[in-house]
Amino acid sequence: MCGIVGYTGKDDAKRIIVDGLKRLEYRGYDSAGIALLVDGKLVVLKKKGKIRELESEVTCLDLVSHTGIGHTRWATHGHPTEENAHPHTDCRGEIAVVHNGVIENYMTLKEELLRKGHRFKSDTDTEVVAHLIEEERNVCSDFFEAFLRAVRKLKGSYALAVITTESPDKVFIARKDSPLVVGLGDGENFVASDIPAFLPYTNRVIFLEDFEAGIVESDCVTVTDFNGERKEKKPVTVPWSLAQAEKAGYKHFMLKEIFEQPRAIADTISGNLPWLRGESEIEGLELDGIKRIQIVACGTSYHAGLVGKFYFENLTRIPTEVDYASEYRYRNPVVDENTLVVSITQSGETADTLAAMRLAKEKGARLLTICNVIGSTATREADAVLYTYAGPEISVASTKAFTTQLTVLLMLSIFLAKVTGRDEGTEDLLSQLLQIPSKVEEFLRLEKESERVKKIALDLYRVKNMLYLGRHVNYPIALEGALKLKEISYIHAEGYPAGEMKHGPIALIDETVPVVVVATKGRVYEKVLSNLEEVKSRKGKVVAVTNEGCREVKEKSEFVIEVPEVEEFISPIVNVIPLQLFAYYIADFLGYDVDQPRNLAKSVTVE
Ligand code: F6R
Repeated sequence: MCGIVGYTGKDDAKRIIVDGLKRLEYRGYDSAGIALLVDGKLVVLKKKGKIRELESEVTCLDLVSHTGIGHTRWATHGHPTEENAHPHTDCRGEIAVVHNGVIENYMTLKEELLRKGHRFKSDTDTEVVAHLIEEERNVCSDFFEAFLRAVRKLKGSYALAVITTESPDKVFIARKDSPLVVGLGDGENFVASDIPAFLPYTNRVIFLEDFEAGIVESDCVTVTDFNGERKEKKPVTVPWSLAQAEKAGYKHFMLKEIFEQPRAIADTISGNLPWLRGESEIEGLELDGIKRIQIVACGTSYHAGLVGKFYFENLTRIPTEVDYASEYRYRNPVVDENTLVVSITQSGETADTLAAMRLAKEKGARLLTICNVIGSTATREADAVLYTYAGPEISVASTKAFTTQLTVLLMLSIFLAKVTGRDEGTEDLLSQLLQIPSKVEEFLRLEKESERVKKIALDLYRVKNMLYLGRHVNYPIALEGALKLKEISYIHAEGYPAGEMKHGPIALIDETVPVVVVATKGRVYEKVLSNLEEVKSRKGKVVAVTNEGCREVKEKSEFVIEVPEVEEFISPIVNVIPLQLFAYYIADFLGYDVDQPRNLAKSVTVE
C-alpha cells in the first residue's frame, strides 16, 4: 500500500528519498510527494501518477537539503490528486507529515480543528495530523511533546514521519498497527515503511513497535513510548542484500523471483535444518498437550496452509484446520491452550493475519508464525517463529515466498512427526526434500532453453476464462495457479478439486475454456486422468502439468508441461512453478505491469 521514506544526514536528502520511493514502487501507489527542509524552510513537491513525474521536478530543484520525508500514496480518503498526495502541512507551512494507515477519528478531529480556525487543503485523514501537532505546539514548549500529544489523540492505524522547520535536522516518527523501520547509517539515518527503501545504504535496523515514537537524527535515534518514556532498542542486522532487491537484468521482479527459487528453497532448508536435526530448539515453541493445529493466513499464504494441512494430518495425525485469517475471528473459533495456531505470512504485517493471531492468543492458544521478514509484527507477537529465507519479495504476486513456506511446513510436520513418535519414513522424505532445489533448478534451466511454458502462454493469452484442476495435495496448487493468473493478467480463473468438477463447474467447459490440470504421479493420478477425460469429452483444451512417464496424460492433452518427478508430498513445491511462469508470461504478453497489478498491494496492512 502506501510507502514512507525519511532521511537525515550528510548526503543529498532529495536524491536518497526519491531513490527510496522508487524502491517502494512495488507496493502500488497513485501519487507521490516529498518535503525537504531547506535553509529553515519547508519545500514540498507532490505529483499525481508515477514517481518519475516527481523525480524529474525534484532533480531540477536547485537546493541543498539534508533532511526530508517522502511518500507514495494509495488513495483511501480522497481521490488520487496532487492536493491529496502526501506530505501534508499545517496552516503555516512549518510542519510536514507523511502517513500510512487510516486515522479513524479524523472527522471529529477535523471539525474541532476547523472550529479553532485551521484551514484544510485536502480531503485526507492525514492532514488532521499536521494541524493537530500545530495546535498542540501552541500549548507545550517542545515539538516532540506536541507531537506525542497529537499522536495520543489519534485513533486507527498509523506509521508517521514528520519534519518541522523548528528542528531542521530531525525526523519525528510514531507507529501503531502500520510498519515503520529505522535504518542506521554512518552519520546518516533513514526511516521507511519497508527495508528495501534504504537497503543500498544499510541493513542495520531498528523496528519500531506499536505505541512507540521517536526522534531520528543523523547521529542518534531516540525511541520512547507515547508518554515520552525512553525505551532501549536493539539494532538488528537483516540478512538481505541490495542485489536481492534489484532486477538484475530480468524484465520483472516476478520473473527474477521465480528463477530465484532454487536458492531460496535451499537457503530455507539449511536455515531450518538445525532444529529439525535436534541441534537447536525452536525457541518459544511449547508442544506439550497440543491436540489440534489451526492455520491462519491470507491469499497465497493461505494456499500454503492448505498444503500444510495435508502435511500435518498425514505425518502427525494431529487434526488441523485452515482458516482465511479474515474469517477466523468472525466464526467464533474453538481454540484453547491445547491449540497450536500457525500463522503464515510473507510480510508479517497483514492486518487480518495479525488480528487472527491476537484473537488466538487472547483465547490461550500457542502461536507459531512462518514468516519471511525478520522483525515484522507477526514475528514479534508470536511465541515462536520459523523463517523462510526467501530474501525480499518485491513483486506483488508471491512466488518464492510460497515455495519456501511449503518447505518450512514440510519440515515442521516432519519435526512434529518425530516429536509424536510417528517418524517412520520421515528421514526418506527429508532426504528427498534436500534434492528439491536441484530439481527446481533443472526445470527452470530446461524452461530457459525450450521456452515451453512461454510458448503455451503465447498460444493462450487471449482467452477470457480458465479452469485449474488438481487433487489431494495438488488441489491447493490449482487454487494458487488460478490466483496467480487472476491477479496479474486479470483473466478470470477458478481453481477446483478435479473430482468436484462434475458437481457444477463442468458446465463451464467448452472449446474456449482451457483447463490447466496438475496430473503428476501419485496416489490420485488415475483419478485425475479420468477427470481429464471428462474435460476432453466437453471439448476443453487441456494444459497438463505432468511427469515424463505419464503417457496417458500426454495423449489427452493439447499442451504438456513436464516437471521432474518427485515424491508426491513434495510435488506441490515443484508443480506450482510452471503455473507461476504461465501466469507471468500471459500477463506480460497482455502488456500488463506484472510487478504492480492493478488494485493490489504487496502488504495489506488494513482490514
Ligand atoms: C498473492 C499474494 C497475496 C498474499 C496475501 C497475504 O500473490 O501475494 O495473496 O499472499 O496478501 O500476504 P502475507 O503472506 O504477507 O500475509
